[in-house]
Amino acid sequence: MFVIYTLVSFVIFIYFAYYYFTRSFKYWQSRNIPGPQPVPFFGNFKEYALRKSTAPSIHKQIYDDYPNEKVVGFYRMTRPSLLIRDLDVVKNVLIKDFEYFEDRGIDFSVEHLGANLFHADAKIWRPLRNRFSPLFTIGKLKNMIPLINERADLFINHVKNITEKKGDQEIYTLVKKFTVSSIMACAFGVDINEDSGKLIQKMNEIDHLTFSRNISVELDLFHPGILKKLNSSIFQKGISKFFLKLINDVLQARNGVPSTRNDLIDLVLELKNKGNYVKLTNEVIAAQAFIFYVAGYETSAITMAFMLYELAMNPPMQEKIIAEVDEVLSRHDGKITYDIISELSYMDKVFNETLRKYPLSADIVRRAKSNYNIRGTDITIEKGISILVPVLGISHDEKYYPNPKKFDPERFSPENESKRHPCAFIPFGAGPRQCIGKLFGIIQSRVCMLKFFSNFRVEVSKNTPTTIIFDPQRVVNVPKGGIQLNILPRKFAE
Ligand code: HEM
Ligand SMILES: *[C@@H]1O[C@H](CO)[C@@H](O)[C@H](O)[C@H]1NC(C)=O
Ligand SMILES: *[C@@H]1O[C@H](CO)[C@@H](O)[C@H](O)[C@H]1NC(C)=O
Ligand SMILES: *[C@@H]1O[C@H](CO)[C@@H](O)[C@H](O)[C@H]1NC(C)=O
Ligand SMILES: *[C@@H]1O[C@H](CO)[C@@H](O)[C@H](O)[C@H]1NC(C)=O
Ligand SMILES: *[C@@H]1O[C@H](CO)[C@@H](O)[C@H](O)[C@H]1NC(C)=O
Repeated sequence: MFVIYTLVSFVIFIYFAYYYFTRSFKYWQSRNIPGPQPVPFFGNFKEYALRKSTAPSIHKQIYDDYPNEKVVGFYRMTRPSLLIRDLDVVKNVLIKDFEYFEDRGIDFSVEHLGANLFHADAKIWRPLRNRFSPLFTIGKLKNMIPLINERADLFINHVKNITEKKGDQEIYTLVKKFTVSSIMACAFGVDINEDSGKLIQKMNEIDHLTFSRNISVELDLFHPGILKKLNSSIFQKGISKFFLKLINDVLQARNGVPSTRNDLIDLVLELKNKGNYVKLTNEVIAAQAFIFYVAGYETSAITMAFMLYELAMNPPMQEKIIAEVDEVLSRHDGKITYDIISELSYMDKVFNETLRKYPLSADIVRRAKSNYNIRGTDITIEKGISILVPVLGISHDEKYYPNPKKFDPERFSPENESKRHPCAFIPFGAGPRQCIGKLFGIIQSRVCMLKFFSNFRVEVSKNTPTTIIFDPQRVVNVPKGGIQLNILPRKFAE
């Protein structure tokens, strides 16, 4: 008897589990939207969930497999999601009809850093974005250049020091030293120095915790909104405590009045008591500080590391960069200003080609707020459906970029650029929810690379990888195993 009960319960359990983990798999088929076959439990995300592949690589594969479709329906675990291939549809969703797609749709507890600009839903996001956007304009950022410049000088000294002993360096870890120090100075008003060992270690831990893949993301894909219901977060509790303390300390040290540093804390203090929409409590400021930190330093560091890698592989391009840097610096007597940065037009092309070949946050994500008819089709995107714009797929599409694996900055010549759809190059996203720190990221990378190439050049070493593999354990596209390059002081090389 007992055996039969157990057996029956088991069968019923399996049946319900099977039902639960396949319940949504008729969604796209019944709406006549083409797409890959899902497998139970994983949907089309098996390789991702098993940590064998990154989400952007999976999206790129789906993008490549359906060359004639405008949109492709697929399943991230059990959640129906829509991949957008057609650039006009991309433009409508991100820009023209943005009001339908204001949210990214990653819900978790507001108390645990959920109220940051990147993750917050429209109700919190809109007033926050209105308040913070004016802090990221050219006018305000120009005043931060001296601060960034100072961090870049220290970085160059550090590189000089270490390359005297050993030329071969892991370039991604190295460049991160600059971006952490630049972000800390500009966003938190904290200057990293020789005594900052403990702080740097803590920041590295936070980096590790934030960018390592966490099972809670899959949980939310099975059961949308579950993290919010459980008052849980995709980030560990210690992280919010750490940033709150950091911000409390800095604000206290300034006694509530701006200093003369022109960093973000000064700008926030100027704002703090103005306006009346979202109150800038220390918790809200800490959540933004957190997102500026994690979105700000890793992105620029990876991009610069890939740029150095490509320049080591393409020596004539590197010589062109060096010539431009020398020319522009001598014309401005070596003084680093915003003008200098905007005159580095070849470096601009190389930077953009780097972001094209290695778009690091290679998907743009949105969620439909209400039913939406895709213009020019009879397709309706229903409320709650997740939208993915596969930036990696688009920027490696032969149609827009012939021979996509080739690194060729001339793709960004004015002639070539004017022939392309504006949404064929969106490494910073597009529309009202595009990257708020785009200009900051460009400025800090430009200053760093300018100083770097006026002092050094890079060469491949015997340890340099011949192909780059993205690390499936990380949330953004990071080179697995790092990138080793020889760094040579220019005075010896010439
Ligand atoms: C090379 C550097 C960078 C790249 C490639 C990059 C890329 C991106 C992308 C693709 C998005 C999503 C845009 C969308 O969904 O349309 C984004 C959003 C964001 N980024 Fe960046 N980013 C960079 C640097 C920075 C920096 C330096 C900061 C801060 C100081 C920053 C802060 C943010 C924030 C707060 C958001 C969310 C914006 C919102 O939802 O309103 N990023 N970034
Ligand atoms: C460079 O090395 C010297 C001597 O070892 C040391 O005093 C100095 O602090 C180092 N500078 C940097 C920026 O690492
Ligand atoms: C969620 O957790 C935070 C901190 O642990 C707590 O202050 C808050 O009251 C909780 N919210 C709910 C709705 O349980
Ligand atoms: C995932 O994140 C949660 C919440 O921050 C944390 O408690 C948990 O330890 C993390 N799990 C892993 C495997 O890192
Ligand atoms: C346009 O881009 C191609 C590479 O895709 C390059 O070979 C060509 O020189 C570029 N044309 C111009 C006018 O820069
Ligand atoms: C490079 O990309 C940036 C940011 O997307 C853009 O503002 C700039 O015009 C681009 N430059 C070139 C030469 O394509």
